[in-house]
Formats: sequence, structure tokens, C-alpha cells
Amino acid sequence: MSLRLSRPKPDTHAPQSDGETFLRRFLGDPKRTGAVAPSSPFLAREMARAVDPMAPGLVVELGPGTGPVTKALIARGIRRERLLLVEFDPYFCNLLAGRFPRARVLRGDAYALGETLAGRVTQPVAAVVSSLPLLNETPERRMALLDDAFALMGPEGVFVQFTYGLRSPMPREALAGRYVARSGPPILRNLPPASVWTYRLRGSAAEPKVMKFRDHAERLGARFGERCRATETMIGRHSDRVKEIIKREAAAFGRRGDRP
Ligand SMILES: C[S@@+](CC[C@H](N)C(=O)[O-])C[C@H]1O[C@@H](n2cnc3c(N)ncnc32)[C@H](O)[C@@H]1O
Repeated sequence: MSLRLSRPKPDTHAPQSDGETFLRRFLGDPKRTGAVAPSSPFLAREMARAVDPMAPGLVVELGPGTGPVTKALIARGIRRERLLLVEFDPYFCNLLAGRFPRARVLRGDAYALGETLAGRVTQPVAAVVSSLPLLNETPERRMALLDDAFALMGPEGVFVQFTYGLRSPMPREALAGRYVARSGPPILRNLPPASVWTYRLRGSAAEPKVMKFRDHAERLGARFGERCRATETMIGRHSDRVKEIIKREAAAFGRRGDRP
């Protein structure tokens, strides 16, 4: 189920703040809303930091709510036109469409990602950034979401998810072999404290271990290049000196040769 939204509908009973909006939505549907308050800018910034703004393609955000992560993604340098926001709650959809008119807002179910995005993704997806309350879903459903997200992304893609829990929100045992999971430090300034997890395909060039290795190889390559240039300069200097000696010796030989 997905619906393209264009303009926000006026809401005469609109609550004053995002905090109030969130609390109301939470009281209406606690399981789906998953939090009593919007994500803090600290958490949102950490989520956005996991996305490389230079990686080409769309950035799909799941469960953007009132949009703090969307805002942080834009501040990170991702153009609004590159953002595809998938939100289930129609109230939040209208709010998002009003706040981010150049981004695409889709009302739909993130757990049916292929269906929700069918025909809407015509370019590669660089990253999927999720604020979904994953822990309210079964491990199988969470893993199916991760697989769906990677079906949209190239091998360098990244799936970003925050959690209030202490463990990976994607079940570790199910990740084995296919994905590499990394967590950032706890963000204590978010209430409740949360941490950001990133998931990448094992063996992709973007996998942290591979990236470290690649950086090391690049550094070695750069050092090798520098040594080559230094040697060339040295040889150049020496060859000038050798030419000078030959000239001097030739001149001396000439002088000696002139003698009777
Ligand atoms: C924990 S809130 C995060 C919201 C956002 N980070 C914020 O601070 O405003 C989870 C969001 O996921 C949305 N959501 C939950 N289930 C969803 C689903 N199946 N498909 C799309 N969005 C969903 C909720 O409506 C809510 O906006």
C-alpha cells in the first residue's frame, strides 16, 4: 500500500510542538509509533553521519515521523531530491510533505518495502536509514526487512538503525555470514539513551575491515609514490652532476690532448 502525497492537509487541531504531536500519535498507536518523543538532534546527527553524502543514489528513510533524521540528512549534505521518505502514519506523512516539499513522501508499509517502492525507485539506493520500532517485530520480519533493503542497494550500501536496546536490533545469529554489524557509542543526550547500528554486506568495499585495509594500501601506495619521486629527483640531481663531471673531464682531456 503506498500513496504519493503532495500537499499537507490543514489540521485545525494541530498540536503545538513535535513533542506533543509525538505523544498523541504514541497514545493512539503505541506499538507502531514506538517512542513517546521524537529523536533528539544528537541521535539524528549520529544516524546521518553513517551515510556517505558522496555515495550516488537515493537515500530511503523508513519511519521518519516528524523528520529530525531527515533534517540531519539534509544538514549532512544530502540533497532533498535524493530523499525518499516511507511513513505509515498519514498524519506524519502530511507533516513531512509540508516540511520537506522537495523530498518524496510515500505513505506505506516499510515491512513490505518492495511493494511500497514498486516503480518509484529508478536509480540506485545508496542507504536505507530506519527509525522503525524494530524490536516490536519478530526477528524473521526484521531480517526480511534487511534483505529487502539490500535488494535495493548496491554492494556498498548501508542500512542504518537506532535502538534503545543494548544488542543489535537485527538478530546477530541471523546476520552471520552475510552481513557485518557495527554499533556506535551510546548517545546519552538522547532520552532514553540510544545507539546507532550500521549493517553492510560482508566483503563489500564499504565493510569497515575492508575499508581499513584499503586505506592502509592507499597510504602505502602514496608512500611508495613519494619515495619514487624522491629517487627520481635524486637521480636527476646526480645525473646533472655526472654530466658536469664528464664535461669537465672532456675539457681537461681536450686540453691534455692539445699538448704536444
Ligand atoms: C520511533 S518513531 C521514529 C520517528 C522519528 N525518528 C522522529 O523522531 O520523529 C517510528 C516511526 O516509524 C513509523 N512506522 C512504524 N511502523 C511503520 C511501518 N510499518 N512502515 C512505515 N513507517 C512505520 C511510525 O509511524 C513512526 O513515525
